[in-house]
Formats: sequence, C-alpha cells, structure tokens
Amino acid sequence: MSWDILITNIKGLVQVREQSVRKVAGQSMATLPILTHSYLAIKNGCISDFGNMENLLARSASTIIDASGCFVFPSFVDSHTHLVFAASREDEFVMKIRGASYAEIASKGGGILNSALKLQEASEDQLFDLTLERANAIIRNGTGAVEIKSGYGLTTKDELKMLRVAKRIGAETPLTVKTTFLGAHAVPKNIAKTDYIDLIIDEMIPAVAEEKLADYIDVFCEQGFFTQEETERIVEEGKRFGMKPRIHANQLNRSGGVQVGVKTKALSVDHLENIGEEEIDALKDSDVMPTALPGAAFFLGLPFPPARNIMDAGLPLAIASDYNPGSAPNGNMSLIVALACIKMKMTPEEAINAATINTAFALELEATHGSITRGKVANVFITKPIPSIAYLPYAFGSALVDRIILNGAII
Ligand code: NIG
Ligand code: FE
Repeated sequence: MSWDILITNIKGLVQVREQSVRKVAGQSMATLPILTHSYLAIKNGCISDFGNMENLLARSASTIIDASGCFVFPSFVDSHTHLVFAASREDEFVMKIRGASYAEIASKGGGILNSALKLQEASEDQLFDLTLERANAIIRNGTGAVEIKSGYGLTTKDELKMLRVAKRIGAETPLTVKTTFLGAHAVPKNIAKTDYIDLIIDEMIPAVAEEKLADYIDVFCEQGFFTQEETERIVEEGKRFGMKPRIHANQLNRSGGVQVGVKTKALSVDHLENIGEEEIDALKDSDVMPTALPGAAFFLGLPFPPARNIMDAGLPLAIASDYNPGSAPNGNMSLIVALACIKMKMTPEEAINAATINTAFALELEATHGSITRGKVANVFITKPIPSIAYLPYAFGSALVDRIILNGAII
C-alpha cells in the first residue's frame, strides 16, 4: 500500500479507537485511548492505518513525517461558536472590569445589540474577510470542524448575510462547518418582542430554509432574552423546516433551557453555569449533549458548570469555545481544555474526550470526526515535543499545536 502521508515515531497517538464510539459518558470519560510509539497512515483524505512502529513493515508514502517526541491528536471539534462578527467589544470588557454585569450592559443596548449594529453596517465581503482571519487562527490552534451561529444580524437580511458568510467559510477553508440559525439571540430595540418572534417564525426561518443556510436552530433561553415557552415555539418551528435544535441554556439563570432542550430533543444544551440536580435529572435518558463553555464562564466571571456532578450522573459532557466578541473572544481549544481542567476539575483525559468525540457527536459528525479511527477524515494535529498529554492543559496558553493536517492535506 502506498500512502499519501505517513507519520512515524509518534510518542502517543491520542484518542485512537479501532471502532469509533458515538460519544463517551460517565466513567468512560476518564479513559482516553493512546497508542505509544506508533505510526499513522493517511490516504485519499482519510485515516488509512495506524499501529505500533514495530508493525510498520512498508514505508511507502509520498510524504513521511517524523513525529519523534510528539503526540498526534484528532483535530478539535468546536461545537459552539459565533465566529461571524464585525467588531470587537473591549470597551464593554473594561466596563465589566469596573463592575458592570453582562446583563446590565445588555440592557443598556450594549452586548448583542451593539454587535448587531456593527454587523448590519458591514458588507458580506467585509464580514467574510474578518471571519476568514478568525477561521485561519482556529485552524492554526488545532480545530478541524466548527459550528458557526448567526444571531448578530437580527433582521432577515442580516441573518441571511451571516449564514452565507459561515457557509463560505466551510466552502473556502479546510474547516468542516455546521451552521446554526440563532435569530432568537436578542430582541432588537425598535420592535416588540412578540412581533420579533413572529418575524423569526413567519419570515426568517422560511428564508433560511429556502436557501438551505442552516443545519440547526438555536435560541438564547435566558431571563431578559427568550423564555422557555418562546424557545419551544421557535425551535419547534425550526424543526418543521429541518433544523434540529441546540439551546443556549442556563448561562445567567435557571432559565428552564435544559428542560426545553430535552423536551424538544435538542442535539445539545450549552453553557449550564446555572444548573442543579433537577437539570441533571432531566438530561438522564436523553441523547442531548450537555456542553460547557468554560471560556465564557471564565471571561464573565460566572460560576463554572458542575462538570463532576454531570459525569457522576453517568452523563456525557462536551466542551466548546463559544468564540464571540462579548463573552469569549478566543477560539483556542487547547486553552478551553486547560480551563476545563483548571476550573472544572476535569482530568486531561476527560477534557480531551469532551473536546473531540463528544463535540463531534453534538454536531452529528461522530462517524467521520473526533477520533483516530480507520476511514474517518484525516483531521489531525501534531504537537510540539511534549512530555505527556497532561502537559497540554498544564502549560495553559502555550502554543503547543505544531503541524496540522486537514482532510489529508498538510496545512
Ligand atoms: O454564548 N449568551 C449568548 N450569546 C453569547 C454571547 C453573545 C454576546 O455577548 O455577544 C454567548 O455567550
Ligand atoms: Fe454562545
């Protein structure tokens, strides 16, 4: 067999699974399979073979990469981002330092509405260029697949513009992109909430579906934003148009977001800073992926989701970046893994499972992404020489992702 790429002398091949699992839950999250002193072979964009170096007989490949001292990971899957935005919001960051809360800033027209004004002024091409820069940055940091939401348009025209930009990122970069319509992110100033919800239902959802712009539908289910009932109504309408739900749930309050996610069979409920036993019980016996966004909790100074309670209840847990200008202006998944370890007391094994196979499941990509398995897409990164996988979160903020292969091509 002649391969396209052969990576040899790998210190540890991480998340390697003969048969892929759909997701890992409960106690299984602590197990991260690693093959030491190994090779990985890539052909036609896919993972073709792997094994111990002792069993590598033929070395026929167009490119051979020596990974001595390095670990090879499946690329991160980032299942929650707002990658398309027109401007940063560091002025609000300073207001928060001086004591203002996220909710206070939002109620004064800052926050999401501030981002919407800027986005409405930007052309599609301008937005694309800004987003492309961020997309290239997350690629360099080891992300291979990403979910991108709308939600800073808040008019039909601008929501469509955002989703077109997100789709173009999928078409024009090596990233695998899933898109989510989040028209119900905030209520614009000049319109009553009931009228805005009608606009989402009567105009936005059909227009998004018509152009096939979104795989999923999301609602910011939160006090001051959208209620449990409103969330249910909006996502049920999205489902009629083929968009499965994923919910912004329980970030600032016990909003009922988790329960509405379970009720509507959402793919994921994301944030979870404010949950207790009731929400954890609601998630049992469901296929909903609980997803923590530790970058947002860190940036806003919120309590972190109770990761240990979630896993002890036998549930799976995913972690994603929430990359956005208001609450998480960073899409570096190694840092998210570090925050999960440091602030949520997840072990490195648990956090890496949460950022690969479990986020892949949350994006319905578990058959093709999220693990090193024969036949899956060849999305991997090679670290710099490091002593162990624990070193990755330990040396938080260090740039340890070195060489990147996406769809079987060296980046
Ligand atoms: O996931 N919580 C709602 N949406 C984003 C923040 C949006 C913003 O502040 O611009 C989030 O944290
Ligand atoms: Fe978000």
